[in-house]
Amino acid sequence: MKNFKTYIEKNKKRFLNELFELLRIPSISASSDHDLDIRLTADLIKKHLLKLGLDNCEICETQGHPIVYGEKIIDKNLPTILVYGHYDVQPVDPLDLWDQDPFQPYIKKTKIHPEGAIFARGACDDKGQMFMHLKALEVLMEEGDLPCNVKFMIEGEEEVGSDNLEIFVKNNKEKLSNDIILVSDTGMISKTIPSITTGLRGISYLEIELTGPNRDLHSGHYGGTVANPINVLSEMITSLHDSNNKITIPGFYDNVTDPSEEERKEMASIPFNIDEFKDSIGLNLEHGELGYTTIERQSVRPALDINGIWGGYTEDGAKTVLPGKASAKISMRLVPGQNWKEINELFTKHIKNITPKTVSVKVIEHHGGQPYVAPTNTIGYKAASNAYEDVFNLKPIPTKDGGSIPIIALFEKELESKTILMGFGLDSDAIHSPNEHYGVSNFLLGIETISNFYHHFTKLSKG
Ligand code: BES
Ligand code: MN
Ligand code: MN
Repeated sequence: MKNFKTYIEKNKKRFLNELFELLRIPSISASSDHDLDIRLTADLIKKHLLKLGLDNCEICETQGHPIVYGEKIIDKNLPTILVYGHYDVQPVDPLDLWDQDPFQPYIKKTKIHPEGAIFARGACDDKGQMFMHLKALEVLMEEGDLPCNVKFMIEGEEEVGSDNLEIFVKNNKEKLSNDIILVSDTGMISKTIPSITTGLRGISYLEIELTGPNRDLHSGHYGGTVANPINVLSEMITSLHDSNNKITIPGFYDNVTDPSEEERKEMASIPFNIDEFKDSIGLNLEHGELGYTTIERQSVRPALDINGIWGGYTEDGAKTVLPGKASAKISMRLVPGQNWKEINELFTKHIKNITPKTVSVKVIEHHGGQPYVAPTNTIGYKAASNAYEDVFNLKPIPTKDGGSIPIIALFEKELESKTILMGFGLDSDAIHSPNEHYGVSNFLLGIETISNFYHHFTKLSKG
């Protein structure tokens, strides 16, 4: 295997500078205030693809944010890798909890990253990880040995559900045809223990709105005589879990299968320290479904969480008010067997059933996505495993992750190919949180591992 380390080491300053330029653009997909920033980011990525010598580079318009596409077909008889990533980022609030401006990237040493980590929104999720693929391609091109065909598809709506990418994929199956899809948008066990993500949970995201009285009322004059929508909503939400922390929606677990003994053993052997887990997020005690370990709860069991709840008075000081409305945003993480559309129906039906007559209810559906599992007995997995082994001197461990990338299951359905989830983030990277960061060494080792993957995959594909 070729040694790419020298080229990466020699060019790392420039690689980082280029990434910083990308991180400076606040490409928040959730807010239309940033539509121009989204454009600028897409343009910058296209510029990079052109500079890399990719052909047919284009910004593909959608009903929402654009998709950046480019390809290098060197020989139709060689395998084709389709790289997917996203250039959009999560909102930054609460801004006051960031040590510095989320869009002024800087490098700071941390306990876990003594060589330094890049701090910025999107540093890890996903600009930093997506950019590794551009740089890996540069490494391959500059070292004169791109061994196979490659297509890049970088979208701007992952953080808001990838609705328009779904349409794009359905309409462009030929253009996107490939032998394997390669994605870096997940994590690894630790800096020294590599892992390959073999499962992602699905997601159902909904909102409940309760309406009681036709306006906010004086909580003294009316208190005790009217059902308070916030009180009612709290009770309803509480009832969604039983005393064993099982979800109470009828039918919710119907298609969920328990992990086999073998699977449980495998999961128990993953290096994971529950005390470190608790310490890292400042907890005294973990919590979850009775009868399952934390790793199981995080990967092969579904979950239901309130993401936000509001109504009444939440500003400074006190205001005596009995609110007219109360709302909550709720996400459910789903596992294989569960279908988000069916789960949405079960949820909506159940919420309507448990809403008392004293209030009226509206259920609003946001986005959803199916869960994904990847087998480990494929050429793609083997190639990835070899690529990690070259760089980390350890065989990567297959792990299932609790997060969701809804488009991955759709790729499988529409493009009929499997995805290799080669993530280099760490749990401590604070993605979606204040002070998101990404280890400089994760970034550089990622570039190297990806470069190796191209060679292993091409070699194994030739048989
Ligand atoms: N990259 C994440 C998903 C992820 C993170 C998977 C860490 C595994 C480990 C992705 O950008 C994301 O945040 N997905 C959303 C879903 C989306 C529909 C908003 C999620 O999981 O909440
Ligand atoms: Mn992501
Ligand atoms: Mn994300």
